[in-house]
Amino acid sequence: MEQYAIKGGNPLVGEVEIGGAKNAALPILAASVMTDETVYIDNMPDVRDINVLLSAMSGIGVMVKRTSRHSVTLNAANISNLVVEDENIKKIRASYYLIGALLGKYKHAEVVLPGGCDIGCRAIDQHIKGFKALGAEVIIEHGLIKTKAERLVGSHIFMDVSSVGATINVMMAAAMAEGMTTIENAAKEPHVVDLANFLNSMGANIKGAGTDVIRIKGVEKLHGTEYTIIPDQIEAGTFMFAAAVTKGDVTVKNVIPKHLESISAKLLEIGCEIEEADDCLRVVASKPLMHTHVKTLPYPGFPTDMQPQITVALALSKGTSIVTESIFENRFKYVDELTRMGASIKVEGNTAIIDGVQRYTGASISAPDLRAGAALVMAALSAEGFSVVDDIHYIERGYEDFHLKLQNLGAQIELVNTERELQKFKLKIG
Ligand code: EPU
Repeated sequence: MEQYAIKGGNPLVGEVEIGGAKNAALPILAASVMTDETVYIDNMPDVRDINVLLSAMSGIGVMVKRTSRHSVTLNAANISNLVVEDENIKKIRASYYLIGALLGKYKHAEVVLPGGCDIGCRAIDQHIKGFKALGAEVIIEHGLIKTKAERLVGSHIFMDVSSVGATINVMMAAAMAEGMTTIENAAKEPHVVDLANFLNSMGANIKGAGTDVIRIKGVEKLHGTEYTIIPDQIEAGTFMFAAAVTKGDVTVKNVIPKHLESISAKLLEIGCEIEEADDCLRVVASKPLMHTHVKTLPYPGFPTDMQPQITVALALSKGTSIVTESIFENRFKYVDELTRMGASIKVEGNTAIIDGVQRYTGASISAPDLRAGAALVMAALSAEGFSVVDDIHYIERGYEDFHLKLQNLGAQIELVNTERELQKFKLKIG
């Protein structure tokens, strides 16, 4: 079983290249089935969730050709099946993007109900409401969401919650509906904008992405395109907080600083220095960290996908901090693991009350989900002594070469498969 073996204590120093955004790449790949022409996608991250989606797409007849580690050509002219039942696809949340994409183009899709990280109840009522508003029938049967429509007709849809997934799914289906669709209370995340830009580059007519009202004028046909995915906001934010936690000096390269504003603002509040250039940000943590409060919110607020990472930093900050999770109700499961490393955190409902401690101590810990897994690695990197992190398959869902990028910044971390390899690492590091 793969684990990370870590000896903490080294400040992270240097530069790290940030990859393409997983949560933009997933819907963009799905949307590429909406044309019979060839689509070329660049800056695609080589992470597990992407590979699972690509394999499910191959399974329904999409021609998928990896032209390099980070680029892919797709052609969906010969799709043979509108039922997506791939065994692995139910493990990833983004499986449901194939519903909006296939429904938009073929007016029919059947896809296994999505899984993804266990971070709380992850309803899909807003997706269903959107599809129905466009005229589709939707039923859930034998673990599949089945949607069908004679024709899709533009509609006015008010989302009850700001949902990234529902906004994206309805936007895809509406791109090929007849007439105008308006999505109100739409999600504004950078990946929603990236998908809209991608669809527009295929000939769609989508306006307002990035605001809370998106207007989509349906078109009959979409064409091939070449597209480069935006940098990953959360991968960048994770390395920025890793600099803070290890008292390091890290420059994240190939980022869009605007997407990182809420993250930079919190780093400044807790006492880090930030230098910004066109496409990079440097985080220097030379002073003791200070406490603050934070509440996760839809974009442009502080992202829920950065909540475990900031908690790991605040648990090492002087004073009492409060972290409120307002998006997913089950996103503090990692706190028990952090407590075993010496953190002093009390969770009450969706709030964590944190009394900063001086240091963490190494321990054997398990990643409960993707982002919390990365945050626990950060804690281990700053801890005194050895740690072993289990269940790192969660981390591999969304971080490419995580341990290699950390090694390049001076971290003592290794991917080990056996007890023998673990002992070898311990002997080597001393
Ligand atoms: N919600 C509903 N009904 C719906 C859809 C969502 O009530 O039909 C609620 C959810 O229960 C949640 C809130 O709305 O409380 C927001 O959920 P959203 O739909 O925005 O989340 P998602 O699309 O399932 C994506 C990312 C998550 C990220 C969230 C929030 C992907 C594949 N996943 O999930 O990313 O946390 O948006 O920004 O894009 C991750 O990458 O680690 C990850 C979990």
